[in-house]
This record gives sequence, structure tokens and C-alpha cells, in this order.
Amino acid sequence: MSLAIRTETPADHLCVELLTREAFWNLYRPGCDEHYTTHLIRGHDDFLPDLTSVAEVDGQIVGSIVYTRSWVVNEAGERMETATFGPLCVHPAWQRRGVGSALIGHTRALLEKKGCPAILILGDPHNYCRHGFKTGRDVNVCTPDGRFPLGLLVLELRPGFFAGHRWVFHTSPVFEFDPAEAQAYDARFPPKEKRHQPSQDLFAMLIRAVVE
Ligand SMILES: CC(C)(COP(=O)(O)OP(=O)(O)OC[C@H]1O[C@@H](n2cnc3c(N)ncnc32)[C@H](O)[C@@H]1OP(=O)(O)O)[C@@H](O)C(=O)NCCC(=O)NCCS
Repeated sequence: MSLAIRTETPADHLCVELLTREAFWNLYRPGCDEHYTTHLIRGHDDFLPDLTSVAEVDGQIVGSIVYTRSWVVNEAGERMETATFGPLCVHPAWQRRGVGSALIGHTRALLEKKGCPAILILGDPHNYCRHGFKTGRDVNVCTPDGRFPLGLLVLELRPGFFAGHRWVFHTSPVFEFDPAEAQAYDARFPPKEKRHQPSQDLFAMLIRAVVE
């Protein structure tokens, strides 16, 4: 397999949204909103187009990683810009062959070059521990409500960056959208059956779990 990672261009938009819809459909809820999230991010001030990348195998897009600005603020009021990825997805036919890892590795190296202190995400730890992500609890980073959700994961790019402070993680407001708008956007795509599957029950547990 000849895998290449490159920056996303406007010509990729529809293909990436179709791929995102395939990868997330019925995974976390009946249907999915992630292709709408990707669409919204591209028009938002917090979009990071230089980092947003696609993975190609023999010229076909099989994976996508989308980046936005995020921030951490410490107890002294010091605010630092960080980077957040998501949606991250690989077409179901290409999963478990290293494509997702390549997207993370490629963009991580770009961020290290730029001097970004850390990547922070809200995601399933199973996918990210092997890339060096730690729980927010271990580096004293919580969400604005003071909690340490299991899904809050931090990859320090400058080792020790968080040491000696308490930090609050802020994501871009682009993620706060009306689900009805996402549904209306999805109606532009070919019909697809929404149904329940067990991964949705696991997700419902994951988003309520916090780290002691
Ligand atoms: C999560 C996701 C992006 C990971 O992408 P991926 O390309 O499947 O990831 P990788 O192949 O790099 O790694 C996945 C697994 O395959 C294994 N793997 C990697 N290369 C492999 C290879 N050549 N042969 C066999 N296994 C391989 C990895 O060790 C890893 O194993 P683990 O899950 O048991 O730890 C992808 O599965 C996906 O799109 N899922 C649906 C959407 C989603 O959940 N996105 C993330 C939201 S948190």
C-alpha cells in the first residue's frame, strides 16, 4: 500500500465529508454529525487549514484529520494556544492498517516544528494512548466545569509544559451547534439507515466517565 499524507484542499471537501459520514455513521449515535462538524470548522476562524490533512492510498482519499485552535488557561490567568484534532477518521475499508496513526504522526511533527505546546482532544483513550496521550488528570488539565472526563486527553509536545500549574481546557465554540442544523445538512447526502448498535452504548458510558 502506498500511503501519502498531504494538506486538505477545497477540492477534497465533498470527498472528505462522504468519507467522514461513512466512518462515523451509527458509531456513536444513530446516524452521525461529524461530516457537518467538518463542514462548519472549515468556515470558522478557529480552523487550522495548514494542519488539516488527508491520507491517500494510490491517489484515493481514505483518511482525514481536521484541526482547530484550542486554549488552556492556568490559575494565574495565563492563556496559551493549543491544537485540537477531530473529526479524525479512516474509511472503514482501510482501518487498522496504520492510516490513522500516520495522520496523527504527520500532523504532530508539523505542530512540533511550529512550537505548539500540546495537542488536546476529547476522544476514546483506546485510540490514543499508544500515541503518548495522557489523561488530563495526570497533567492537571480539566474541562471548564472542573471535571476530568475520561475522554480528555493531552499530548505534551513540550515536555513538562503543564507542570506546576492547574489548567482549564477550552475548545473552539464551533463544536456548539444545533443538532437540527446537522440533520438538515445530512439531508443533502444520499439516504442511509440510522440504527442502534452496541458501540453507541459504550460511547454513552465513555462520555459520562471521569478520572479520579
Ligand atoms: C479511530 C481511527 C481513526 C483509527 O484509524 P486506523 O487507521 O484504523 O488506526 P491505525 O491502523 O493506525 O491503528 C488502529 C489499530 O490497528 C493496529 N494496526 C496498525 N497498523 C496495522 C497493520 N498494518 N496491521 C494490523 N494492525 C495494525 C494498531 O496497532 C491499532 O491497534 P489497537 O486499536 O488494537 O490499538 C479509525 O478506526 C476510525 O476512523 N474510526 C471511526 C471514527 C472514529 O472513531 N474516530 C475517532 C474518534 S475518537
